[in-house]
Amino acid sequence: MRKALIAGNWKMFKTEEEAVLFTEELARRVADVQDREILICPPSLYIYPVVHALVDSSVMVGVQNIFWEDQGAFTGEISAPMARSTGARFAVIGHSERRQYFAETDDTVNKRLMACLKASLTPIVCVGESLEEREAGRTLDVVGSQLGKGLKGVSAKDAPHLVIAYEPVWAIGTGKTATPQLAQEVHAFIRSVLKGIFGEKPALAIRILYGGSVKPDNIDDLMAQADIDGALVGGASLDAASFERIIRYKG
Ligand code: 13P
Repeated sequence: MRKALIAGNWKMFKTEEEAVLFTEELARRVADVQDREILICPPSLYIYPVVHALVDSSVMVGVQNIFWEDQGAFTGEISAPMARSTGARFAVIGHSERRQYFAETDDTVNKRLMACLKASLTPIVCVGESLEEREAGRTLDVVGSQLGKGLKGVSAKDAPHLVIAYEPVWAIGTGKTATPQLAQEVHAFIRSVLKGIFGEKPALAIRILYGGSVKPDNIDDLMAQADIDGALVGGASLDAASFERIIRYKG
C-alpha cells in the first residue's frame, strides 16, 4: 500500500516570520494525522527555521530545487548534500516553472535526480504537458518522453525512492484542475511507463502525485482515483486552513 503524500510547494512566497508562524500553526493543526505523509517546501532560505519549528512534528521539509554538483564555484546554487544537511528530506525537480523560466531540460532534470538519490534526498520529479500539447493530442507522448529522459539510468532498486508529480501546465495557478478522470488517465499511463522501465513491483511502490489547482473542494475526488497517491499543492498550501483540509482529504 502506498502511503499518501500531501506536499505544499510554496514557490517564492512568505517572509521568514510568516514562514515560521505558518509552520507552527500547521504543525498544531495536523498533529494527530498519522496515516498520510505531509511535506512543505519553503524557499531554501527558510529550511533551517522551518525544520526547527517542526522538531516535534511529523511534517517533513523539502527544497524546491537543487543543483547537481555536490559543491564548487556555482554562485547562487545549493547542492543536494547541502539541502540534506539542513534537514530537508525531499527536493522538487523539474517543476514546469523551472522548465519555463530557468531553462530546465529533461537532461538537467536527470542530473538533479541522480544527485538527489546519491544524497538520500527524495526527488519529486515533475512532468506535464502544456495546453498547446494537450490540444494537439500529444499529452502521453510528452509525459512519456519526459519520464524516459528524466529517469534515465535510475535503477529498479532506487525506484521506490522516487516520487513523480503529474502537473499539467495548463492547470497550474489557473484554477482549472484536471478532472479526476482525466488526471487518473495520465497517472495510469505514468504507472505503465514506470512498469516498463523498472518492472511491475518497483513501479507499484512509486507514488504519483497530482498537482495543478488542487483545492479543498476537489481533493477528495482526486484522491479517490486508483493511481493518484497524493498532491503537490501550490497556492492552496499557503493558507493553513485550506492546506489542512487538503491534508484531511476524505477517502
Ligand atoms: P497551484 O496549486 O497554485 O496550481 O500550483 C501547483 C504547483 O505548481 C505545485 O507545484
